Amino acid sequence: MKGIILAGGSGSRMYPISQVYSKQLTLIYDKPLIYYPLSVLMLGGIKEILIISNEETIPSYQKLFKDGSNLGLSIEYVVQSAPNGIAEAFILGDKFIGNDSVTLILGDNIFYGNLDFFYKGIKNNSGATVFGYRVNDPERYGVVEFDKDGKALSIEEKPQNPKSKFAVPGLYIYNNEVVNISKNLKPSSRGELEITDVNTTYLTKGKLRVEKIGRGLAWLDTGTPESLLQASNFFGTIEDRQGLKVACIEEIAYYMHFISKEQFKEVIQLMPKCQYKNYLENILADAE
Ligand code: DAU
Repeated sequence: MKGIILAGGSGSRMYPISQVYSKQLTLIYDKPLIYYPLSVLMLGGIKEILIISNEETIPSYQKLFKDGSNLGLSIEYVVQSAPNGIAEAFILGDKFIGNDSVTLILGDNIFYGNLDFFYKGIKNNSGATVFGYRVNDPERYGVVEFDKDGKALSIEEKPQNPKSKFAVPGLYIYNNEVVNISKNLKPSSRGELEITDVNTTYLTKGKLRVEKIGRGLAWLDTGTPESLLQASNFFGTIEDRQGLKVACIEEIAYYMHFISKEQFKEVIQLMPKCQYKNYLENILADAE
């Protein structure tokens, strides 16, 4: 299973900072936003990861993650020249995906809580697996309609009159067919290759599973300054209470056995003196 993080876009809702800075690099409490989706892929056991973003931001990600080997990962980078739609990720990622299956996560989507829904999705996927999460404002998302037996009937992108309260979060699992399906898509009326059209193609073929996620999981949207602040407050509260960090990629790499204890020590040694380093030193001490 390969993993793609789509972390570009125009970021216009974040103006004026968007002129010089990508949203996915914004601090969510104590670490960049992109750490959160990256940690979800890592927890899913995915080690081969492609980051797609615009030309200006790719160098920042490269500086941050390099080739990923210090975390036991292999990270590659591809430029998306313009925000032509989420499904373009599979065209740009064609070579990277090869003959494999692929999980796509949007760089501004945060999942916190029990990730069993995701692990099961990876294990059981044969065609496509997406999720349904109840929200108060479904019209802002892809919306899935279920029949009375919980079977998905339709998915609509940002409908004016949503057929349910279930939004489709930006975490999608596909078999290799997704590359060809994406290549055959036509841009929507807003000029984008829509991920909802990919999902509808699988649905029409009878190859889409839509699994509902329960309310115990937090799926946070970080599309606006207010929601970024809310997310920061949320993780600040949890981390301060537990004394444990969420989405700490170095800790996860060690926990997942992507790196040995020696490698973990080296990673920590290279960090400047800071609270983040202190935290990891404590994790290491606990393990010894
Ligand atoms: O967050 C989940 C929702 O994400 C889904 O429910 C929708 O079906 C899906 O279309 C998408 O809706 P958004 O309105 O949130 O998409 P947005 O255009 O904001 O893009 C999501 C992220 O992906 C954003 O951080 C920018 C990035 N992106 C987007 C596009 C269209 C790219 O990097 N390149 C792109 O071409």
